[in-house]
Parts: sequence; C-alpha cells; structure tokens
Amino acid sequence: MCGIVGYIGPREAYPILIAGLKRLEYRGYDSAGIALINDGGQLNVYKEKGKVSNLEAIASQRDTTGKIGIAHTRWATHGEPSAVNAHPHVSQSGRLALVHNGIIENYASLKEFLKGKGFTFKSSTDTEVLVQLIEFMQQEYGKDLEGAVVLALRRVVGAYAIAVIDKEFPDKIVVAKKSSPVAIGVGKDNGEFFFASDALPFADYTNKLIYLNDNEVALLKLGQDIEIRNLDNKEITHDIKEVDINLESLEKGGFDHFMLKEIYDQPRCISDCMRGRLLLKEKRIVLSTINLHRNELVNAGRFVIVACGTSWHAGLIGKQLIEQWAKIPVEVEYASEFRYRNPVILPGDVVIAISQSGETADTLAAFELAKKSGALCFGIVNAVGSSIARASDTGIYIHVGPEIGVASTKAFTGQVTVLTLFALALGHELGTIPQQEYEDTIEELGRIPGKIKTVLEKDSKIKDIARTLTYAENALYMGRGYNYPVALEGALKLKEISYIHAEGYPAAEMKHGPIALIDEDMPVVFVATHHQLYKKILSNIEEVKARNGRIIAIVTEGDEAVSDIAEATIEVPPTLAPLAPLLSVIPLQLTAYHVAVEKGLNVDQPRNLAKSVTVE
Ligand code: F6R
Repeated sequence: MCGIVGYIGPREAYPILIAGLKRLEYRGYDSAGIALINDGGQLNVYKEKGKVSNLEAIASQRDTTGKIGIAHTRWATHGEPSAVNAHPHVSQSGRLALVHNGIIENYASLKEFLKGKGFTFKSSTDTEVLVQLIEFMQQEYGKDLEGAVVLALRRVVGAYAIAVIDKEFPDKIVVAKKSSPVAIGVGKDNGEFFFASDALPFADYTNKLIYLNDNEVALLKLGQDIEIRNLDNKEITHDIKEVDINLESLEKGGFDHFMLKEIYDQPRCISDCMRGRLLLKEKRIVLSTINLHRNELVNAGRFVIVACGTSWHAGLIGKQLIEQWAKIPVEVEYASEFRYRNPVILPGDVVIAISQSGETADTLAAFELAKKSGALCFGIVNAVGSSIARASDTGIYIHVGPEIGVASTKAFTGQVTVLTLFALALGHELGTIPQQEYEDTIEELGRIPGKIKTVLEKDSKIKDIARTLTYAENALYMGRGYNYPVALEGALKLKEISYIHAEGYPAAEMKHGPIALIDEDMPVVFVATHHQLYKKILSNIEEVKARNGRIIAIVTEGDEAVSDIAEATIEVPPTLAPLAPLLSVIPLQLTAYHVAVEKGLNVDQPRNLAKSVTVE
C-alpha cells in the first residue's frame, strides 16, 4: 500500500505535498519522494528512504519552487525500500515523472518489450516500467501526455492509481485509476486541482471532490475545467461532490473504526499476500526465500518460532502446518521467555520471528540471540524495513498493509497465510507432501478470500450473537487441532478490547480443570468446524451443555449436531482442516469488536495497550 498526492494551481506546491504526504504516512513509510516543475520548466525530483521527514530534510536544502508537483509515500511491494526504488520514477529522457499506488502484474513482459526498444531501467520496481511505457507511446505515436497515458494503460494488467507530469507541458497533470483509490479535489480558484489516495491531504483547501472510477483518466489542466475520459477515449462527466470532510473517519474508509475496516480488508489482504507467490494456473508456490536459502531450509533440523501475542498464536498454527507437510519438528516460544532462559540452539536450527510491527522488543531480542548462536534468522513481518525485517537473514513479508487498530486482525490472517505457503512449499521441496494434497491445498487457498467474504456477510447475525457476551464477566474459548490457536486468539481479542476476562483452551483440557468454572453464567465459545476432531469436540460440547453452560459455536455450513445443542451458531464455509483458522477466526474478531462497541469502549486504542511494543 502506498500513498500518492499532487497539486497544480496558483500556490507553491511543495508545502502542500509535504503536508499531504504526512497525512498519508499510515499507508506506508519505507520511502518517500517528490517531483516538482519549477517556473523555469526544470523537473526536480527528490527521493529518500524512510519517513517523509527524511525526504523533507534533503529537499529543504534544494530548489523546491514550482506550482505543479506530485509526491509519494511508499510501502514496498516490488523492490526493497531504497531511494532508487522510491517514487516518483522518471522516464528515460528525463521528461516524465510518475507516482503509482498498486501493482503492475504484467510488468516483467512489458519490461522485456521495452528493453527490446532500447529502454534501460534504474530500479527493480514495476512502476518504472509504466513511466517508460508512457514515454514509448509518446515517441512512437506522437501523442500528447494524456493520449500516451491512455495507450500505455491499455497494455497494463494490474491495479493502479497513477499521476504523471511532463516537463514539456508544465500546465497539466494526468491522473488515472484502476482498483486503487484516488480522490481529486477541485480548488476554489479556477483550474486549481489537488489529488491524493484519499481526501485527507487536501482537506484544508477544498471539500469539492471527484472520485474517479476504474479505467478513467483525468486531465487536470491549469485554469481549465477537469476533463475525464475512459480507456476507450469516451468523454465522461462526473458530478463534483461537496463532502463534509471528517479527517479521522476518512482514513477509516467509511468504517467506524480501523479495527472493523481491517477485519473487512481481509479478503483483499490475503489476495495481496498471495499475489505472485501462489500460482493457481500452474498449481505451484514460488517463494524467493526457498530459492535463495534452499539448503539451510530443506536441511533444517528444527524450526523455533519466537513471537508475542497474536503473532505467537499464528506461530502455533505454523507449527502444525510445518510438521504436517514438511515433517520437520517445530517449537513455538514466547519471545520474552526464550530470550532469558539460555535456550539451546543447535547447528542447523532455523529461528523464525513473527511480528506485525517488526519492532516488538522481546521478539527482536530473541532473534538477535538466535543470530549470535549461529541460527539462520527468518522473519515473517508486516512492516517493511522494520528492525526485525532488517535483522532477518531471509524471510517473507506478509504484505497486508499498515495495521492501525491496536487489536491485530488482518496481520494474523496474513501471518497464517504466509506460514501456509511456506509449509506447503517446503513440504513440496522435501517431497514430504503428496502431490495431490499440495495441489488441492493450493486450489483451496485460492478460494479463501471469497470464503472470508461469505463469513463477513454474516456480520449482522454475529452482532446479535455478540450481545449475549456483552455483560458476561468471563468467557471460555475452546478449539482443537488447527482451531485450538484460534480459540486462544478469540479469547485474546475479547479481553484486549472489551475487558472481559476470557481464556482459550484445547477443548479436551477442559475436564482437567476449567470445567469447574462452568455454570449458567459462563459463555463457552466452541470452534467446532467439520474436521478430524469434530466428533471429539462434540463430546466436549455435550459436557458443557450437561452443566448448563451457554454455548456459542462456530460451525461448518450445514452443521446439525452442534447446532441442535448450542444457544447460537455462526456458520463458516467448508474448507480443508489446515486452512480452517483463516475462516473460523473471522467471527471471533467480529464478536470481540461488537462487544467492545456495545460497551462503548475505545476499540482502536484499548486501555494500556500500544500498537508496537518496543519496550520489554
Ligand atoms: C493483539 C496484539 C498483540 C501483538 C503483540 C506482538 O491483538 O496485537 O498481542 O500481536 O504485541 O506484536 P507484533 O506482531 O507487532 O510483534
């Protein structure tokens, strides 16, 4: 996820763009850049790794004049975070500059085509290919900027919100969109325009907005009305909407809270996470870490997973996945315990750190300890360029976009997705997973985003069921097999945002103690989908029923046996047992959310918690 912003009009562009980038930093912060055309017609481009403040520090020493400019804050997808991979990208002749949010899926073939035409490339990004393609169209067909953009976009497969400036035409910006957001702000002065990934960056200047639709290209020309056409060159008219811009809620994309937005983002996030890695047509998984570190990974004697909180729960699922498919033993440790107990690290051990923020102090310290002991350090991280990412010898980014709600949701499903891809790919390399099972699981993974959408459609029913938990003082969560860590995660979600004491257990452990707690006031949430331990968990549910416990159950569509006993059930679509957590956790996230809202609590910033725990 990246953020783009731009301006053309009578004011100086630089301060508007820098302030705009800061408001977009939640969308990514591993590099930032700006392109301005000054009054002498010179194109000045400044880029810097890291936060917008780093960019500001270098740009403020240089010529930042000009009344037209575009800027970008990056969350790396293709190419590591660095100044050279930062946007704006400039065309070969130095005439065009372009910013892009999205992914150009066919960039490799376009790059080959352009290389054949004599173009050379400085970065490893998909975006540089696009700016060169636009220049190629200008050269080949003698088109104006907007015409060349249309011709180029007809050849592009993927998602984009782009903006292009041309120093030969310092009076216009061309903006286009497909599947990535962009809002255009119409200024108070005639022919003054702003645009950005959302309306926040220009909220101080105008509330008159145009939202482009997919496959539309807008020409923002100084002193003139906006012109919009589609990729068939048909002119389109848009009403200008006057929007009451609430700075906070706009960032939430219309949702009441970041947590809810992030829960709803999960189908898209899982697709982003699998993009380029899960090759459905070829029924194959491609992970660069396996190509680069094949020997160490295939010959690992043991994996040790270190993590905290929700990431630790993802690790428990990872253990089952790796042991099932790659047949290599896995230990899962709380990072805070591991780092202080002189753990034995054997030659050939691979230590995996799982962390959304990449900054959790205990996880980082455990990782550094493992590194000193000679283990290969493997990071599963969301925040690109974070401390744990930098400390990793290798690893896999989960690519679910910045997570702002303190309660982790989309990062959990992203972590589980990455662990699934890794375990499958490793098992395939080792020949320890049957080919048919490998292919069937790949196909089913491809269906998971759609199945999560089906669960999200049950939200109003989940909200009703959540009411039964609102005034509980305690709750138990039970699951078995792959759903046991899901029970732990459901309990953590409830306690951290609704302040209800909740515990997760493997259901069979109930009779070894927790069953003493069960009475008519105790809600027990069972994760009881149709998998190998279904009959066993059904007996556990009967045991709770016999003691008058109140049963809420997550079941597979069409379930009858549990539904007959439970007070309430929430159905999820059928899937393979190892993929069950990706579906069964969704109702538990929503339940916790609705309970907290019902209690009037601060969902996104629960008391005593912080998003990134950089102290131990
Ligand atoms: C719970 C939650 C925390 C984090 C934990 C680790 O919703 O967010 O339990 O999972 O603090 O954080 P990361 O993954 O950033 O290392």
